[in-house]
Amino acid sequence: MEISPSLLSADFGNLNQEIQTIATAGSSRLHLDVIDGVFAPNLSFGIAMLEKLVFPPSLALDLHLMIQAPEISLARYLTLPVTTVCLHIESTIHIHRHLKTIQQANKQAGIALNPSTSLTSLDWLLEELDLVLIMSVNPGFSGQQFIPFSLQKIEDLANRISKINGKTKIMVDGGVNTSNIKQIQAAGASICVAGAAVFGQKDYKQAFINLQQATR
Ligand code: DX5
Ligand code: ZN
Repeated sequence: MEISPSLLSADFGNLNQEIQTIATAGSSRLHLDVIDGVFAPNLSFGIAMLEKLVFPPSLALDLHLMIQAPEISLARYLTLPVTTVCLHIESTIHIHRHLKTIQQANKQAGIALNPSTSLTSLDWLLEELDLVLIMSVNPGFSGQQFIPFSLQKIEDLANRISKINGKTKIMVDGGVNTSNIKQIQAAGASICVAGAAVFGQKDYKQAFINLQQATR
């Protein structure tokens, strides 16, 4: 199981410092939540801020765009040194085209699903996806409770992926903590986002170790 700490839960007055601290705490990933206040009820940071932040090359960056009509700014986001880009299926009409644009820019392309969005929305797409991001809270804020039915959704998705012999990874985002990460892993997730469970703790390094240990 890989853990991707979410910068949304970090100290926004000290983002560069927070990024350095999480890299030295042993994380190999960092999750970047872009929220526009329209698609989801919060405002985080956008492209102009992300272009200025300093990311150590040791961190694989996961970009999660919670913005309406992401195609308007997608080309610029693709100039960032990110590894994965997830678009919400609820946020745009021609998502297949945008997934291809992401893959042509040599990034891994993913679709994010809100809690109430059915897995059937992945029909015709799943084979072509590098990852699926299952939202286990309604998007917008860090520190919410994991929605229990997400476990079944992850399991159903893992079964669908194994039936097509797909290599699509499952990323789970929202309310992940030391009490539920093992079940999430058992259901079939390979990457877990952790906001409050890492940046919300005093000692990031210890929090990161605790999460990893809880998967064993
Ligand atoms: C919610 C974001 C999540 C959030 C996770 O809209 O997509 O990435 O920051 O935070 P926690 O782990 O605290 O739920
Ligand atoms: Zn996220």
